[in-house]
Amino acid sequence: MSDEINIFLTGATGYVGGAVLERLLKHPDCSRFRITAIVRSTEKADKLRKLGINVVVGSHSDADIVIENAAKADVVFTAADCDDMGAAQAILDGLKKRFENTGKQPILIHTVQQFSLCRCHKPYRCEVGTLTDRALGAFTYDKIYDDTDADQIETLPDTADHRNVDLLLVKADKDGYVKTYIILPSTIYGIATGHLVSLGIQNPHSKQVPRLIQLGKARGQAGVCGEGKNTWPHVHIDDIADLYITLYDAIVASSPAPGHGREGYYFGENGHYLAYDLAKAVAVELAARGVGSSTPTSFTEEEFSKNPRLGYFGTNSRCKASRGRALGWMPKYGDEDFYASIRAEVDVQFKD
Ligand SMILES: NC(=O)c1ccc[n+]([C@@H]2O[C@H](COP(=O)([O-])OP(=O)(O)OC[C@H]3O[C@@H](n4cnc5c(N)ncnc54)[C@H](OP(=O)(O)O)[C@@H]3O)[C@@H](O)[C@H]2O)c1
Repeated sequence: MSDEINIFLTGATGYVGGAVLERLLKHPDCSRFRITAIVRSTEKADKLRKLGINVVVGSHSDADIVIENAAKADVVFTAADCDDMGAAQAILDGLKKRFENTGKQPILIHTVQQFSLCRCHKPYRCEVGTLTDRALGAFTYDKIYDDTDADQIETLPDTADHRNVDLLLVKADKDGYVKTYIILPSTIYGIATGHLVSLGIQNPHSKQVPRLIQLGKARGQAGVCGEGKNTWPHVHIDDIADLYITLYDAIVASSPAPGHGREGYYFGENGHYLAYDLAKAVAVELAARGVGSSTPTSFTEEEFSKNPRLGYFGTNSRCKASRGRALGWMPKYGDEDFYASIRAEVDVQFKD
């Protein structure tokens, strides 16, 4: 890698991508970074330029723009839409050009939603959306995916959610023109803070927990999918953002070289929560603000028929983040922080 390190970033205005960018701007090697971000908002583009970021205004569906910028990159971080096959292909096409022009394998650190690890209840996965709330949230699994076990990860069916993009990346790595690293955060929680949030560039909010709170507020009672016996891992936004940097630093240091390709899955997890316990914590906070009781109620058949995505809250995803820890990643926030974060998230929903 030459002295200047060209970094191309997607999702810079987002919850995850903004937190990664915040850290890149504070990185000890920052003076060597030439960071390019692709951003849709012209207003945010102007703000980012003032921070020294080279900004391309456009969407990931502008394949030519994505290819052109990936072709100039030594390192690409993606933190946008993990299901966007077109964007993933365009990035790989650009990185292939980069390899052909330089003879050096560029680095792709890609973000995916950990839902691909879920052992969902079949009706939720069913494309016609035939749901029954009787079984959703009715059980958890003993099987815990460990990111050091590539054989175990390969037992996931190719048709599992998000796998299509994962597999594209793993194949590209195998083809030899790029080194791919896939970060799979779990339920990311916590309200992001920092310079990019203060400047109104970065979305400070996650999705899963805020959605559950919004649903509870709208139905007048915190809800849970079935009995809420399903389990998910959690990770704080600051910890997951640190994982990207720990991984990047380890790749650059290259001794020992972190796994890539089929060995390049990095889970983000620092504990697991039971769906009922999350729903209960939400119920307590909503009840304290006069919304319902402190005991969550199960989503009804009628609610499922109106909103099949509710089944998401009844899925399982269990994992062990061994690879990141082996590289020195030390997440600071645990189970207590996860539950303690709910109050501030509920406050946000009652702010206006
Ligand atoms: N939040 C979580 O708990 C969580 C957990 C696991 C995995 N993830 C994954 O992490 C990734 C980022 O999630 P997030 O929570 O950071 O979401 P987010 O806050 O909504 O950010 C998404 C970012 O991607 C950009 N983007 C999306 N589609 C685009 C397109 N077609 N063209 C240009 N820009 C586009 C958005 O730009 P705009 O600002 O213009 O909208 C925004 O910067 C996703 O793949 C998600 O599945 C998130």
